[in-house]
Amino acid sequence: MRTPHYLFTAVYAIFVAVVCAEEHSETLEMRKLPNGLKLGVATAAFQIEGGWNAADKSPSIWDTYSHIPGKIRDGTDGNDTCKSYEFYQRDIQMLKFLGVDFYRFSISWPRILPTGFSNKVSEEGIAYYNRLIDEVLANGIEPVVTMFHWDLPQSLQDLGGWPNPHVADWFEDYARVLYDAFGDRVKTWITLNEPKQFLIFGYGQKRFAPDVYSPGIGDYMAIKNALMAHARAWHLYDKEYRQKQKGTCGITIATDLRVGATDDPADKAAGDLAMDFEVGFYSHPIFSSTGGFPENLVKRVAERSAEQGFSRSRLPELTKEEIEYIKGTSDFYGFNHYSTKFFYARKYEPGMYAVPSYDDDIGAVGDYGSYELAPVMHTTKIPDGMRKALNWVKDNYNNPTVMITENGYGTYGGINDIDRIDYYRQYIDAILDAIELDGCNVATYTAWSLMDNFEWDSGIGAKFGLFEVDFEDEKRTRKARKSALWYKNLLATRTLDPGNEPKLEEISF
Ligand code: BGC
Repeated sequence: MRTPHYLFTAVYAIFVAVVCAEEHSETLEMRKLPNGLKLGVATAAFQIEGGWNAADKSPSIWDTYSHIPGKIRDGTDGNDTCKSYEFYQRDIQMLKFLGVDFYRFSISWPRILPTGFSNKVSEEGIAYYNRLIDEVLANGIEPVVTMFHWDLPQSLQDLGGWPNPHVADWFEDYARVLYDAFGDRVKTWITLNEPKQFLIFGYGQKRFAPDVYSPGIGDYMAIKNALMAHARAWHLYDKEYRQKQKGTCGITIATDLRVGATDDPADKAAGDLAMDFEVGFYSHPIFSSTGGFPENLVKRVAERSAEQGFSRSRLPELTKEEIEYIKGTSDFYGFNHYSTKFFYARKYEPGMYAVPSYDDDIGAVGDYGSYELAPVMHTTKIPDGMRKALNWVKDNYNNPTVMITENGYGTYGGINDIDRIDYYRQYIDAILDAIELDGCNVATYTAWSLMDNFEWDSGIGAKFGLFEVDFEDEKRTRKARKSALWYKNLLATRTLDPGNEPKLEEISF
């Protein structure tokens, strides 16, 4: 029998990780974390809750998608995942064990609004999140709540989902229900998690639910609508809730760095344009002083659209009023970061991507270069990219308050996860450089993820958890990985210490 390819990759990755870890820890110095930097962990409803049809919950697009044979790489679905809907109290014990300052989790829209609309609010859905929020708070942990982490009610997808401009109304109504129900206790709201990932992958690349394939058209319509939906939820909070609830509201954008692969000016320009498409598409309208989509992106899509015979740009226009309405609608920059991609202009040839499409509009080829080591996609170790991405935000958007809402490392499992510890160590070191040497305004750091969970199209095969979850076990017992013990020490000492080398102990929940 042939050894599967991923086994070689995994063994090689572990070997390289160990060598790099040893090399790097020698150069790492003991560093105190800045006063006031809060540390937490994150999860998302669909990835951990299970209880997919409990009480009156209706299906989300991810329920539908993961039930279609062949869509999820390992054939699993999200029906039960970590069973947190049932065992949420145990998750809180794990948070307590780690000693985190806050817990970032998301609310399932179809669990709260089974029709998708606010005509019917689920009592059991509200009761579940009340229990969760109350218990988190009772343990001295702050809840940081994402309103939408990709699980759109299927009923709304049946009406077109994000490409339908009415989604802005639906989302505002949903946000109002959440502020009314939980805003007395929740002081940090994140409207949308990573719009690029659920819109481009979901409506233009056949990688994610809802699996609508409208590249370079439907995905771009969806982007405008998602920005409007986010802005509606923020304005609602600002006008009607901020004064009495005294919280903050913002958006989380995947801010993975994109750069030119070489010093060649054409590659440099390709890297900059890729950054506009991958990040600026969402951040520029909200955080820049001018508002609107990035200029070079608008120009590129207009040119390509004309060449392709379209009578107008495939990118929907933002009117002056819309630009003003969206601008400034985030109290902080929610920043997720995993990796860095390098772009080559000359490797691109017309026809290598679908025409039209997002990738064809970028018009360059990106890869992870020699860093392609980690077994799971987008988890290469390029800590300098973290520092550069933080500086990109600082330089382009007048140094806003940044909440790092996700950062983490995927593997195919194993409890002695020194490669994950090495990743966290190096990335946090880079963040401290960004704060102390470059003056970036970072308020929080969030490890992704509390525990292994349903990793979207990868199923349960890709593991990001500080805790390992036994998916074979009815109870879904969780075991602390070495990285959990490492993070616990980091939290207790508030010091990035090269001597933080925990011994594995049997700790399960
Ligand atoms: C998402 C998470 C996901 C993680 C690891 C992020 O893009 O927000 O839901 O599990 O990456 O792939």
